[in-house]
Amino acid sequence: MNSKFQILLTGVGSYLPKKKISNNDLEKFMDTSDEWIRKRTGIKFRHFVEDNELTSDMGTNAAELAIFNAGLKPKDIDLIILATTTPDNTFPSTASKIQRNLGCKAISFDVQAVCAGFIYAISIGVAMLKDTHGKKCLVIGADSMSKILDWNDRSTSVLFGDGAGAVVLEKKNVINKTVENNQWGVLVSKIFTNGEYYDLLSTDGGVSKNKSTGFLRMNGKEIFKHAVEKLSSSLLMCLEECNMNINDLDWLIPHQANQRIINAVSNKVKIPQDKIISTISNHGNTSAASIPLALDVATKKGNIKNGDILALQAIGGGLSWGSLILKIGNPN
Ligand code: UT7
Repeated sequence: MNSKFQILLTGVGSYLPKKKISNNDLEKFMDTSDEWIRKRTGIKFRHFVEDNELTSDMGTNAAELAIFNAGLKPKDIDLIILATTTPDNTFPSTASKIQRNLGCKAISFDVQAVCAGFIYAISIGVAMLKDTHGKKCLVIGADSMSKILDWNDRSTSVLFGDGAGAVVLEKKNVINKTVENNQWGVLVSKIFTNGEYYDLLSTDGGVSKNKSTGFLRMNGKEIFKHAVEKLSSSLLMCLEECNMNINDLDWLIPHQANQRIINAVSNKVKIPQDKIISTISNHGNTSAASIPLALDVATKKGNIKNGDILALQAIGGGLSWGSLILKIGNPN
């Protein structure tokens, strides 16, 4: 990709609510088992918000850490894009609440692409930074999925958790435009939607449908098949566009929905397991938060180094899905 700018990812942060729930805790009040959940999904724990803890609270905590880790102050941020399915209120945007919490004047809005929201939000952030809407963009994924789970539906309620993650994107001028290999930051992103599959993963209520929020419903088997096929194909498209192959990736950070999906994608695209970041056992599926949470955990462990090539990918209701490739950090 040849452009005048690079959009660097310069800071990451995350937040998990204190309440940690094990599979054994779930066994106590529903017809499920630790064995089933671990074998079918890889999940051991998930975190849940308290009743008075909001998506904006989690998003603000993650955002503050990402801004700090980028060496910036909230007033430096020009744009805030929040990916969420579980906003504090129907309106205004939860991003505008986070802007207020941070005490800055950034243009702020929410993006709704469910579990794929973080990939969508990065893609929008990159496009807006390139289109002169500022130089520093905060991209947040935050979801309180526990608030839309039906505890009478064991096939969905054991899968999800709450949390938030955030990154800072910064627009920097390209110093040497002719050196193609010297591109840093977001190299390519590809996002897709197919509304034919709207009903496979949705809530059974909504504001204009029945003045409610509804509960999460999913045809797990169908979503599983789409996930393996679409995550693999979108990743391969991104690699092709960057003239890369799978061996050029240092890390793959997939959406954390099911360890069996992650394994199937790994087999299909032929990336070794030790290059895949998986946090599903501790987080469950945190929807839009899953990728930045995993990125932050791996960064804190020291696994991800400045200049590593990462692929991020996610799929969720819509169906909405996408992948992106980035060279993380700062060339200077
Ligand atoms: O973030 C968006 C993306 N989401 C996903 O990608 C999720 C994709 N789908 C999946 O991960 C899997 O389809 C599930 C984990 C949701 C389900 O796994 P599965 O292997 O497709 O199980 P299943 O739905 O076919 O159910 C198998 C059996 C059923 O029992 P019978 O009919 O065979 O007797 C279910 O009733 O497992 C039973 N079952 C459970 N048993 C214990 C379903 N949920 C549970 C449970 N505990 N929580």
